[in-house]
Amino acid sequence: MLTPTEKIWRNGQFIPWEDAKIHVLSHVVSYGSSIFEGIRCYATASGPAVFRLREHVRRMLDSAKIYRIDVGFTAEELAEALLELVRVNRMQACYLRPIVLRGYGEMGVHAGTNPIEVFLACWEWGRYLGEEAIARGVDVCVSSWNRLAPNTLPALAKSGANYMNSQLIKMEALINGYTEGIALDVAGYVSEGSGENIFLVRDGRILTPPLGASVLPGITRDTVLRLAHDLQIRLVETIIPREMLYIADEVFFSGTAAEITPIRSIDRIPIGSGQRGPVTARLQREFFAITSGTGPDRHGWLTPVYVPQPVGVGS
Ligand SMILES: Cc1ncc(COP(=O)(O)O)c(C=O)c1O
Repeated sequence: MLTPTEKIWRNGQFIPWEDAKIHVLSHVVSYGSSIFEGIRCYATASGPAVFRLREHVRRMLDSAKIYRIDVGFTAEELAEALLELVRVNRMQACYLRPIVLRGYGEMGVHAGTNPIEVFLACWEWGRYLGEEAIARGVDVCVSSWNRLAPNTLPALAKSGANYMNSQLIKMEALINGYTEGIALDVAGYVSEGSGENIFLVRDGRILTPPLGASVLPGITRDTVLRLAHDLQIRLVETIIPREMLYIADEVFFSGTAAEITPIRSIDRIPIGSGQRGPVTARLQREFFAITSGTGPDRHGWLTPVYVPQPVGVGS
């Protein structure tokens, strides 16, 4: 269950958490017309800091553009409002969820005149795939559901509608006793998890599906690409046959919620030694050093949230 925070931002104003409501006949409810983001704010020694804020806001505006949604706020305004959201809710670490939706007005598929509503919310959210997953890894399956076919629902957009597909993948995995499912694209090649991008390691080289394999252009995926480059680990974006999953030395997920999570078995076949592998561990060390503020933020990925000190503190 969500633990409410105090305020949610709606169309430029902060309102109480309980008041952030929409009408049941809002366009989004029947037709799935929303786009959204998932962003993490980390607690660092020098205070809360939002990870890759600019890139998340940019992806949200990209998603909106694909769906011809005029968000009505600039990237700078949204980024500033997200920082203010963390501040007013006095959070140290949290998950931020901007949502843009087509609201109440006309009914019918075309929503030309319906208002666009923008909500920014945040709350505390721990490890998405379980506390142990980061160290021990997760057991997953290949889903019987494919990822979105090209030119049906755009995979590059983070839209609410795409998550009906994710729900099928996740539900099937959980019902069959797995933590997550890996979906193939319609050509039968490895695509991604229901809410994570995927990476394989074989002979010291990292492989990940290209954007054309129906994947979300993950911000954490991009982070892994850059960290691998920094660490001089070879990485290629390439079509990956399903069976490569089973014979990989290491496989891991990346995502804002999942961060970097090792996969220890797929369809009950142990991956490598069945434990977190050395390349995954190295990337995790780099990732968590940056996000916790204990390592240098050499790419400028953290945006500090200025939190005013109560009067008298430190003076
Ligand atoms: C389907 C899907 N793929 C990949 C990701 C990972 O993206 P990111 O690293 O930007 O969170 C997510 C999470 O947002 C997702 O929902």
